[in-house]
Amino acid sequence: MGNLYGLIGSPVEQSMSPDIHNDAFRALQLEHYYQAFHVLPTNLEEAVRALKLLNIKGFNVTIPHKLSIIPLLDELDESAQIAGAVNTVVHLNGRLIGYNTDGNGYVSSLKSIINKPLKDQKILIIGAGGAARGIYFTLTNQGSMHIDFCNRTVSKAEELIKECPFPNKSHAFGISQAEQQLADYDIIIQTTAVGMYPNRNEKPMSLRQAKRGAVVSDIIYNPIHTAFLEEAKELGLVVHNGVGMFVHQAALAFELWTNQVPSIERMSKIVINKLGGTTC
Ligand code: ATR
Repeated sequence: MGNLYGLIGSPVEQSMSPDIHNDAFRALQLEHYYQAFHVLPTNLEEAVRALKLLNIKGFNVTIPHKLSIIPLLDELDESAQIAGAVNTVVHLNGRLIGYNTDGNGYVSSLKSIINKPLKDQKILIIGAGGAARGIYFTLTNQGSMHIDFCNRTVSKAEELIKECPFPNKSHAFGISQAEQQLADYDIIIQTTAVGMYPNRNEKPMSLRQAKRGAVVSDIIYNPIHTAFLEEAKELGLVVHNGVGMFVHQAALAFELWTNQVPSIERMSKIVINKLGGTTC
């Protein structure tokens, strides 16, 4: 008999995680099944106890539970300690162990399109929320020293830099200042919700001053082609969309649960088909 895996969050109806995990189980001839569960914040504690009791072998955690689940777990892996948030739980020998595959998933995805060592690149992160934090700490942990921030609220980016446990030479700027000095950066990473469905026409900044050949990455995957990436494409810059982060974080969770490596290509195709697009 196969195992049951799942996702808890609110909402979860639109999630593509069941599609990609169930397809990977089938492709690898595993009899497991992945189910999304809608869990309201007030029911989180009870839901986690129920998942444990029913012997669910692992689950993903999404908005709004990535932080509030921490005290309900038995152990935190280093990835979750660094990120300060959990997106994957492994149920092993009666213990729930929290991991975070978002940061490593994002960095693996970025590396798959860049043929130079990431740590030599000058990087600008737009935004200073939870997603930016996970990516920043993962990159600095892997030796990237030259990462700057810009954010609508500069003080939040300054706090993130202060909290970073790894060596760095980071600075924080406002959006318009960063826009003026964009030519300094090899990679620009957009982590805010600006441009996300349904606000498809919004952009966090203009890319006019960006360096030739720069990589522009947007972690949003719905729409696949944000207005920001459309501008990058028109300017002839290298474009990296959010599908990569989504499928790489899923693939890392899948590996933690099954010790098997799923096909990133199959996972990406499912997501792109479902979003009705092609990659740019
Ligand atoms: P997440 O966990 O997805 O990163 P978050 O922690 O709420 O979400 O962080 C959201 C980020 O998007 C922040 O950097 C936020 O800027 P502020 O720190 O100034 O709030 C940024 N953001 C959200 N809406 C924005 C908007 N309309 N314009 C500019 N930045 C925005």
